[in-house]
Amino acid sequence: MICLGNICRSPLAEGILRKLTSNKNIIVDSAGTSSYHIGESPDSRMILTAKKFSIDISNLKARKFSTSDFDKFDLIYAMDSSNYKDIIKLARNNNDCKKVKLISKNDIPDPFYENIESFEKVYFLLESACKKIIETIE
Ligand code: 4NP
Repeated sequence: MICLGNICRSPLAEGILRKLTSNKNIIVDSAGTSSYHIGESPDSRMILTAKKFSIDISNLKARKFSTSDFDKFDLIYAMDSSNYKDIIKLARNNNDCKKVKLISKNDIPDPFYENIESFEKVYFLLESACKKIIETIE
């Protein structure tokens, strides 16, 4: 799960997908395309939003996407088209490119500069997107 800062959208996507795949042998992780927030906990507003839906993301720490992630993961989901382009730029070959998907037809909006309602909106968008992912991997 990839976004820009790895403190709002992708940690929540990681938490939701972890919960939905807890009975499966699947490794879920998240990262950012930027180094802005490396080592930081998720945004407190996103921790609260996740908690509201019984998901604990408080222990996650932001990291930056690295080309080695193409070797470690089969599927790489970008939250928006800008994240998608940034990841594709790092792809070393067609096999890397094929792993990169947009999590949703429409961009998951960046809530960082928005109000708390925007965080909850992101929750519902990501819950729906993650449920669709489960259907495609089953
Ligand atoms: P995220 O949100 O990409 O969903 O983690 C953002 C967090 C921080 C910034 C931008 C987006 N920032 O510019 O610091």
